Amino acid sequence: MPFKHHMSVNMKTSTLLHIDSSPLGAASISRDLSHRFVERWRETNPGGAVVTRDLNAAPIPTIDGQWVGAAYTPEEARTAAQREALALSDSLIAELVVADEYVFGVPMHNFGVPSVLKLWIDQVVRAGKTFAYVGGAPVGLLKNKKATFLIASGGVYDACTAMASYNFVEPYLRTIFGFVGVTETTFLAAGGAAALNYGKVDRESFLRPHVETIESWFQALTA
Ligand SMILES: Cc1cc2nc3c(=O)[nH]c(=O)nc-3n(C[C@H](O)[C@H](O)[C@H](O)COP(=O)(O)O)c2cc1C
Repeated sequence: MPFKHHMSVNMKTSTLLHIDSSPLGAASISRDLSHRFVERWRETNPGGAVVTRDLNAAPIPTIDGQWVGAAYTPEEARTAAQREALALSDSLIAELVVADEYVFGVPMHNFGVPSVLKLWIDQVVRAGKTFAYVGGAPVGLLKNKKATFLIASGGVYDACTAMASYNFVEPYLRTIFGFVGVTETTFLAAGGAAALNYGKVDRESFLRPHVETIESWFQALTA
């Protein structure tokens, strides 16, 4: 029998959905971390696909009355205009369904998630698509997904610190992703970025422990 190369058969191909939400471009800490995560993910998943959605590059509209009416009209009864109103939501949800894994770069804005990320969440949390009520109780419909959130903030909000109760980013993301079925979540808090603005720390020193944390995740995967 001739020698056969089984590499492509054995290789698990998966898809990573990469979503950034900082308006700061190259200066952004959360973008820096999510890009480093994606680089390591590519190395760990040769043949894997990365889908990138930059929420600052292509603004997502607010949901309006037409959208809500369309979402709560049974699919088969929707008019062409209602289907059109849900087209973006449908395609954003399709990205979530197709991907095996998600990584989010998230800046803290006013103790919460940035508005562009909230707009995306409003488009993808949809009855009958990403959650459903079964016997009166909500059930998440995204199954077997893994999500990583890389969160940058000016202050420090670690558990047991004075500011912990001001942090609406991690609890909110945990709740909303749990609601749609994504319970395998990892959070990295890069807090204290304000020190960078005061020149108290240089960017590489600030990033180092967080880059090392990301590195340790990938090393644990391949160990
Ligand atoms: C509009 C705005 C609001 C912010 N609000 C907060 C805040 O409530 N708490 C905080 O600790 N840092 C806050 N910051 C600081 C950012 O969280 C910090 O600069 C972080 O690095 C942002 O992530 P990025 O670098 O990826 O954009 C705010 C920054 C901006 C631009």
